[in-house]
Amino acid sequence: MQTKILLKVNGREVPAMPGARLLDILKNAGYFIPTLCDHPGLLPLGGCRLCMVEVWEKRRNFLVASCLYPVEKPIEVLTESPRVQAARRYLLTLLLARHPQVKAVTDLATRYGVRANARLETEPEECVLCLRCVRACAIVGTNAIGTAWRGREKKVGPPFDEPPEACVGCGACAAVCPTGAIKVEETAEWRRIWGRDFALVRCERCGEAFATEEQLRWAARELPGSILEEKLCPRCRRGTEAALIGRAFGPGGPC
Ligand code: SF4
Ligand code: FES
Repeated sequence: MQTKILLKVNGREVPAMPGARLLDILKNAGYFIPTLCDHPGLLPLGGCRLCMVEVWEKRRNFLVASCLYPVEKPIEVLTESPRVQAARRYLLTLLLARHPQVKAVTDLATRYGVRANARLETEPEECVLCLRCVRACAIVGTNAIGTAWRGREKKVGPPFDEPPEACVGCGACAAVCPTGAIKVEETAEWRRIWGRDFALVRCERCGEAFATEEQLRWAARELPGSILEEKLCPRCRRGTEAALIGRAFGPGGPC
């Protein structure tokens, strides 16, 4: 078994497994670390830099993006030192100027005492370019959205801003977006996302619309064996599986 190492965080000892991500160690120990681009289901990107903390190692100190920092040896960490707070306030000043209506940004700005700076104001944008959506789409394997342009013009979306052919309408991008920038419209019959309409499939048992045709085709292709003969929503599917397990392990079943 691997031996734990001891970190000193804001003067308190915190045990951690070698190789664990500093951000996870700090969050699990109860420290508040602001993040925008991090998501537990996605590979870390290190894009927003809000998770920076101060690390002391052999009398040297530096700021690190804790979401990208694996801890290999005992270190001292300061999560709210003056240097850390100054860096976060600087980043939040820029974010607030560009995204004054985004709750994830305004909440953090309030927490760190950052006020809007009229000289920096630009056209308000809902997207903070955390690229969670692009990474989620890459995990699904469809890569229907990506980034275009650079610098201040940079944005995320489908190629040429057209309804993306590769999209399966799963909505994973919208589910991981921290700002609500990705609009999903849904009725009982269809879902609209990135300017494309997807017909919804109803559960053959309870009648609830639960997936798009394209999503089910994707699952049949990418997750062989995951689709039952019947088209069932997750709830009815769980019920069927529970009944099968109950039959197999219940009275008279294998045990
Ligand atoms: S649309 Fe949402 S998830 Fe995608 S980059 Fe913008 S803020 Fe992040
Ligand atoms: S959460 Fe670490 S850089 Fe965004």
